[in-house]
Amino acid sequence: MASKQTVHMNQGQGEISYARNSSYQNAEQNRMKPLIEEAIIDLCSNTNTLLHGKMVIADLGCSSGPNALALVSTAVMAIHCRCLHLQQPPLEVCVLLNDLPDNDFSTVVKSLVTLRQSNEPVVMTGIIPGSFYERLFTSGSLNLVCSSCSLHWLSKVPEVLIRDHIPAYDIDEQARRERLPMVHEAYAHQFKTDFTHFLKLRAKELAPSGRMIVSVIGRPSDGSTFEFFHIWEVIAQTLSIMVSEGVIDKEKFDSFYVPMYGPSSEEMRAIIQEEGSFSIREMQHFGDVMDEFARIGKQYWSLEGNLENMLAKDTMVAVSLTKA
Ligand SMILES: C[S@@+](CC[C@H](N)C(=O)[O-])C[C@H]1O[C@@H](n2cnc3c(N)ncnc32)[C@H](O)[C@@H]1O
Repeated sequence: MASKQTVHMNQGQGEISYARNSSYQNAEQNRMKPLIEEAIIDLCSNTNTLLHGKMVIADLGCSSGPNALALVSTAVMAIHCRCLHLQQPPLEVCVLLNDLPDNDFSTVVKSLVTLRQSNEPVVMTGIIPGSFYERLFTSGSLNLVCSSCSLHWLSKVPEVLIRDHIPAYDIDEQARRERLPMVHEAYAHQFKTDFTHFLKLRAKELAPSGRMIVSVIGRPSDGSTFEFFHIWEVIAQTLSIMVSEGVIDKEKFDSFYVPMYGPSSEEMRAIIQEEGSFSIREMQHFGDVMDEFARIGKQYWSLEGNLENMLAKDTMVAVSLTKA
């Protein structure tokens, strides 16, 4: 089950669309802005960039709605301010937005027009549909890559779980506890494979000294045991009640896997260091973004206490990288 076949956010502008239900991701993006501004200052201090007079930036997993342009708009604004500060002629900027082909790109395209309206810097825009677990750009063509709240989506569900008929969330609590280490190991392994591959691909596509800033929903590095991905635990618990009420077939429930894994910052650091294409500039944990998520979750699902307790264990991990 490859995520490119199964994942996309709700389209359009309706009540349940991603555009109207992504405020916690937006809070996360706001926290990434200083990292992006720092990267732009760094890139603008590179004589090569100034010499070529242009910068190419990409957002991977942009989705649709206001968040799709948030990070690239920050970058464009930062480039503009930096050129003024350095009294340099404005750079030409190319903004490329990526997501899976089923993403609501028609809404994104309409909003891209607003970016092009500014004359300084001159902004060219483009859409790159495809999986970020594949090559998306020509070699050495990018200066800055951003990605928020997307890389915890795996390329596929760990095959070993499907092959051995191991449910990701066993309804029987004891069986679930016993299998948890195995389920965790399978998901962690898939994340490592995918993230390593992602780093290799982006290292090919970034120009020398290129920068990359990514954030994922992760979990705290306090040594607490893996307890499935907490948001999906909420969903799995709801579905398991539906199984006990006979609304959903148990066999169907047992084959319900979500291609998602929340790493700790230590796991991400170890993978980045082992892969070796990037050096880490900065790594941050944003714990309380989940407060906003819990507030919205409660509003929609009317769940008390339980949801907040579960989500308190999730956190955001953001990392700012330089191509080595
Ligand atoms: C939670 S949304 C985040 C969107 C936006 N970056 C934000 O911060 O609000 C995750 C996005 O990642 C996209 N995505 C998941 N797997 C992907 C992949 N393999 N390649 C490209 N995009 C992917 C999804 O389609 C979705 O739009």
